[in-house]
Amino acid sequence: ACPRLPVTNCCSLPSSCPSLPPSLHLSLPPSLPPSISPSLPPPLRINGGDFNHFPDDLEFADIVQRAEQAIENGAFPERISQGSSGSYFVKDPKGKIIGVFKPKSEEPYGHLNPKWTKYFHKLCCPCCFGRGCLLPNQGYLSEAAASLVDTKLGLGVVPKTKVVYLASETFHYSAFDRAKSRGKKYALEKVPKVGKRFHRVGLPPKVGSFQLFVEGYHEADYWLRRFESDPLPENIRKQLQSQFERLVVLDYVIRNTDRGNDNWLIKYEKPGEGQKTSSDSCVKIAAIDNGLAFPFKHPDEWRAYPFHWAWLPAAKVAFSQETRDLVLPRLSDMNFVQDLCEDLYEMFKTDKGFDKTMFERQMSVMRGQVLNLSQALKDGRSPIQLVQMPRVVVERSRSGGHGRVVTLGNAFTQTFHCKRPFFTSW
Ligand SMILES: Nc1ncnc2c1ncn2[C@@H]1O[C@H](COP(=O)(O)OP(=O)(O)OP(=O)(O)O)[C@@H](O)[C@H]1O
Ligand SMILES: [Mg+2]
Repeated sequence: ACPRLPVTNCCSLPSSCPSLPPSLHLSLPPSLPPSISPSLPPPLRINGGDFNHFPDDLEFADIVQRAEQAIENGAFPERISQGSSGSYFVKDPKGKIIGVFKPKSEEPYGHLNPKWTKYFHKLCCPCCFGRGCLLPNQGYLSEAAASLVDTKLGLGVVPKTKVVYLASETFHYSAFDRAKSRGKKYALEKVPKVGKRFHRVGLPPKVGSFQLFVEGYHEADYWLRRFESDPLPENIRKQLQSQFERLVVLDYVIRNTDRGNDNWLIKYEKPGEGQKTSSDSCVKIAAIDNGLAFPFKHPDEWRAYPFHWAWLPAAKVAFSQETRDLVLPRLSDMNFVQDLCEDLYEMFKTDKGFDKTMFERQMSVMRGQVLNLSQALKDGRSPIQLVQMPRVVVERSRSGGHGRVVTLGNAFTQTFHCKRPFFTSW
């Protein structure tokens, strides 16, 4: 394992760690789908080479395997009709929805986005529609990274999400890919000897985010309206407040730019209605649609992308002791933040368009968010006071910079941004 670097070096990229193993190169034997070569052993599954491999999470591995089996048996993923990108409900062999898959190539700015409106946005008015603070076409990484942050902070509000490879005829493929796949299948049928030499016969797997499907949830607005007219008993209101604070922590750390009230879900079961034990929480939040987070700079030029939860009454209440006890020890530990950056690096570097400099900028924003959040929690502030704090980035020291610069030790520079967004309420 990599020895812990001194705290002052916590911003360095993991590649600078001398004891990290050199990148692993595995040459895989050409493998055919099991349906075509039943006598061959199952193919070696390695992530990063179109294969799914989750040795540390057998439960998740099993779910993905069931999704693959379902596709082989003809239970294909189904496109979610709403939304601006190609997102799919993935099923198990019995046709039950088990996940939500969002392929990179079908994201709003992906080259195979199936929805025409986004295409025209991109073509006609790119400056008004993209989010200038985000790296384009990395939404699937943002989804998986949000889940990683959620797990590492022990929040438990993001349904588990990982980077997965899937192929399905219901996905949006180019005419060329479809023709190539048809040609290979034809050759395999007609001249099996030649066909067996093909690396892959079906449609090419797409890389994307795979999020576990959560059942029994409604969009937040649905329940929030009901709770307004029919207030919750005090103990359940506290449970909801605690869940809400976890959502705030997540969104603030990852600097989510898309947390409308349609992008988080609430499940509520009246006490005694469907709980297994009396200690089960009656009310749970699921933070879905995390694809527009991890900006490389604060959104402070034209649009602020506010956190919509900041308008809710719950945002006026100071963070509870429970939330402070849960996240403060982690967030105020520089080694924890470094570990988090390293884990994110391992995930982000697999993207074709990965750029170390941009990644470092993303981490600088995230570290600034962590710094503000830690301070807010220590000071007993509320979510609304948190979002009013001056934006800050914590980057590796270098001369120059904008705004007020404070040097932390000899490795960090903290920069406050005083410029206000053009369209904002804060
Ligand atoms: N993990 C999940 N569990 C249960 N339902 C989900 C999950 N993820 C998404 N959904 C459902 O699918 C709908 C669309 O999901 P999502 O918002 O993530 O997709 P999208 O394509 O990014 O859409 P948009 O661009 O409109 O935000 C959600 O409103 C929700 O009803
Ligand atoms: Mg959405």
